[in-house]
Amino acid sequence: MLSILVLHGPNLNLLGRREPEVYGYQTLEDINQILEQQATELQAKVLTFQSNHEGALIDCIHAAWDEHQGILINPGAFTHTSIAIRDAIAAVALPTVEVHLSNIYQREPFRHHSYIAPVAIGQISGFGAESYRLGLEALVSHLRNPKA
Ligand code: DQA
Repeated sequence: MLSILVLHGPNLNLLGRREPEVYGYQTLEDINQILEQQATELQAKVLTFQSNHEGALIDCIHAAWDEHQGILINPGAFTHTSIAIRDAIAAVALPTVEVHLSNIYQREPFRHHSYIAPVAIGQISGFGAESYRLGLEALVSHLRNPKA
């Protein structure tokens, strides 16, 4: 069965309480439950992991190499800073979709650049929790039909 690693970066454990006008009222647990249900509908499975630590996210990407077929990642603020996470994704070469709750291009200029985007198949930004749902759908569809 298709297995997808879902990674949530720093501060996303605070979802629901953290700047809800920007990030919405759904908690990380709510989002993970939505993704698990969606995965079942898509006849796939997801493993979810959140960390506030760059190295822990990188270790998890390395461990995905022989375990999962794709990665769905919201790198949080590491999007804009982490060459190391980008290199980890490039190293394992697993198809990766980058998602953001907020539209990073509508926000401060320092959020307009993503180190992850060049190693991702694509990016979905600005649809709140729906960004994750759309991202999982796009990733599974890509994995099943890479040429489409
Ligand atoms: C975010 C956008 C980032 O700029 C920010 O640092 C986050 C969340 C988003 O999902 O909108 O932590 O990745």
